[in-house]
Amino acid sequence: MSDRVYTVALIVGSVSEPSLNRRLANALVGLAPDAGLKLVDVEIGGLPFFAAQFQSEADYPEAGRALKAEVDPADGLLIVTPEYNRSIPGVLKNAIDWLSRPEGDSSFPGRPTAVTGMSEGAVSTAVAQNHLKAILASQGVQLLGEPEAYIQYESGLIADDGTVPDADTRRFLLEFLQAFHDLIDRGASS
Ligand code: FNR
Repeated sequence: MSDRVYTVALIVGSVSEPSLNRRLANALVGLAPDAGLKLVDVEIGGLPFFAAQFQSEADYPEAGRALKAEVDPADGLLIVTPEYNRSIPGVLKNAIDWLSRPEGDSSFPGRPTAVTGMSEGAVSTAVAQNHLKAILASQGVQLLGEPEAYIQYESGLIADDGTVPDADTRRFLLEFLQAFHDLIDRGASS
């Protein structure tokens, strides 16, 4: 791992308050400097619904431009998602649709991208993450394959402020971030 520090746009696929996935994201924000990453939160809750008429560069709505202006300069994209009805929440799919346009100016191709998520159930967002990975692969991102990070929440695993008292969980999340740093590094040095 190089000692370069990379900026990563962070999208949380939940607008709930409180949110387990916001809590996981806060934990990752706290651990990121130890993996040479700086996570920068990108807000998606206020976006209007994407519609197919928003296609051209010339009249792309300001909300979409602002979203892309936050994601495009970053070295990578990290998405932390809940699982809703065995898929991703609509608010997250909406943001992805905004980022995929205007035509010919998608924010995704070649972008180093990692996915994780947390729920209380044994499935631990695996189904949602696999849907999300299929969407992202179709958009041409450079996806982090290993380690997969399906986090099953239990009381005390991650504190409200994002600190991670459990040493094994802390180590695993750091390994996940370090693997993402390595993925970005490979692209940056090629
Ligand atoms: C859920 N939840 C859920 N959990 C899961 O593991 N698999 C699922 O398919 C679903 N489906 C689902 C649908 C809907 C509409 C809701 C509201 C919830 C439970 C979900 O994991 C839980 O509410 C988490 O706390 C959601 O994440 P945030 O918003 O707390 O980050």
